[in-house]
Amino acid sequence: EKGEYRHFMQKEIFEQPAAIQRTLQDRIDSPEAVSAAFGDRAEAIFDRVRTVQIVACGTSYHAGMVARYWLEALAGIPCQVEVASEFRYRQHVVPEGTLFVTISQSGETADTLAALRDTRSDNYVGRLAICNVDGSSLVRESELTFLTKAGPEIGVASTKAFTTQLAGLMMLVLALGRRHGLGDERIETILGELRQLPNLIEQAAALDKPIEALSRAFVEKNHTLFLGRGVQFPVALEGALKLKEISYIHAEAYPAGELKHGPLALVDKEMPVVAVAPNDELLEKLKSNLQEVRARGGELYLFADKHARVSDGEGIHVLHLPAVPESIAPIVYTVPLQLLSYHVAVLRGTDVDQPRNLAKSVTVE
Ligand code: F6R
Repeated sequence: EKGEYRHFMQKEIFEQPAAIQRTLQDRIDSPEAVSAAFGDRAEAIFDRVRTVQIVACGTSYHAGMVARYWLEALAGIPCQVEVASEFRYRQHVVPEGTLFVTISQSGETADTLAALRDTRSDNYVGRLAICNVDGSSLVRESELTFLTKAGPEIGVASTKAFTTQLAGLMMLVLALGRRHGLGDERIETILGELRQLPNLIEQAAALDKPIEALSRAFVEKNHTLFLGRGVQFPVALEGALKLKEISYIHAEAYPAGELKHGPLALVDKEMPVVAVAPNDELLEKLKSNLQEVRARGGELYLFADKHARVSDGEGIHVLHLPAVPESIAPIVYTVPLQLLSYHVAVLRGTDVDQPRNLAKSVTVE
């Protein structure tokens, strides 16, 4: 069922506009309508939320990290995010009015499920599962559910599940934000931006050929560094995770501002550096971080907004993305990084859909 595609992962990357369309369909018609996508009890539970605890693993954890930036910046709601395998084994404090949110493609990840089953404190006002599989354990055991409608994801490397999770998480931010002073006008604006998402993802995916060309520079490398700032830091983490899991090239992600606190020592011409740099307030800061890389002979691959004043130069390779509203930028910038890891893996001849040592659903601890 791969059709015209060579791998499921490739098919699933290109399915993202449709997957997001389905996920948002009939759910974002108005600010009032958004909560309904989270279940019948959402209104009553959301009214009581004062803080959010997100728990997930792997790629789904990265989605949670993006959501934290959104929740605190847009909704003014404190948010914690933790990988399930840590959260479940440590003593933690549960503030009053905590919404417990799990994020999972499969709904069967053992650590995430165990963390959910352990939410006994009375300070939890409810449990929400953001999940791609209806009827999965996480969904059955949570009071609230947001179903991402990505459709079956076959490739072990998660792609469309991640971007649909992000779309759902932005809806959560709007639903909670509405109760915390995020005005309807602002919400309407962001809903309008969400409606542009399928089209913008398609434009980002149309960079496939230039990204394939660029991927040749990575094939012989053993290490790469991914940089992002702010909400793009988790996008960098996700880009590094994709590259390591399917191409087996060591990849690390850092918030760009941490570069000089250690990782800069690693940078030389053998270590390409990938940076995600949309045209937001942090771009200028990121630019100076990037100069540090150039000064050490590192080759730079920059995914930047077409309005960003950066261009190709000696050792600097810029790939321009369409202008993207800030609210949805992390979703759009994920796509070129997926394509990059895909093409690097294909060139290296790895088993893209079934990388060694990995399982699609981790139901053991
Ligand atoms: C990476 C990947 C994994 C999963 C993780 C959680 O591409 O797919 O990191 O994201 O195993 O799985 P779910 O989302 O099913 O809980």
